Amino acid sequence: MTEPAVRRLTGADAPDWQRLRLEALSTYPEAFLTTYDEAAAVPVGTIAERLDTGHTFGVFQNAALVGIGSLIRLAKEQTKHRAELGAFFVQSGAQGSGAARSLFDGIAQAAVEVGIRQIELYVASSNARAISFYTRAGFREVGQIPNATLSNGVSETDLIMVRDLS
Ligand SMILES: CC(C)(COP(=O)(O)OP(=O)(O)OC[C@H]1O[C@@H](n2cnc3c(N)ncnc32)[C@H](O)[C@@H]1OP(=O)(O)O)[C@@H](O)C(=O)NCCC(=O)NCCS
Repeated sequence: MTEPAVRRLTGADAPDWQRLRLEALSTYPEAFLTTYDEAAAVPVGTIAERLDTGHTFGVFQNAALVGIGSLIRLAKEQTKHRAELGAFFVQSGAQGSGAARSLFDGIAQAAVEVGIRQIELYVASSNARAISFYTRAGFREVGQIPNATLSNGVSETDLIMVRDLS
């Protein structure tokens, strides 16, 4: 197997991104704020526009997209050094392979190149694997959001994690 390759995704990648996004939401619904139905309702043309204008990245193994992650940069003058990492997912067949770490490292490198100095994320407190991954990648917990999600009457606490890039 070739080394994982990471690149920024563009509109041409929209169908592949949407396929992985829906796989993530159907396989790990408790790991994300968005529901499958909400994501499935977004037209592929809208996704293509978002990819062309945003900071969404993919990791490829043997030319196939196996993982995705997006940075949403805060817009204001005093906050534009910050970005939120979201929709971070690696297909189960590629988990434990280093693809997730390659993806995060590629995202962090691209973030530094555009002047982002801090990456922030929310992760469900029950998502031990993701918390372990993020901690290994240099994130630290800085707080918690109680009742971050409420699904079928069950609430979940999210951890807020931050990674300094400076
Ligand atoms: C989060 C994710 C991207 C991490 O990628 P990955 O390839 O699984 O990550 P790695 O295998 O490199 O690292 C996971 C770590 O969790 C550990 N781990 C594995 N299973 C675990 C479990 N059930 N509980 C706790 N830790 C676990 C691994 O040993 C590893 O720890 P280490 O680096 O200290 O050895 C991937 O698991 C994923 O896509 N999960 C589903 C979607 C998701 O949760 N996304 C994040 C939303 S915030």
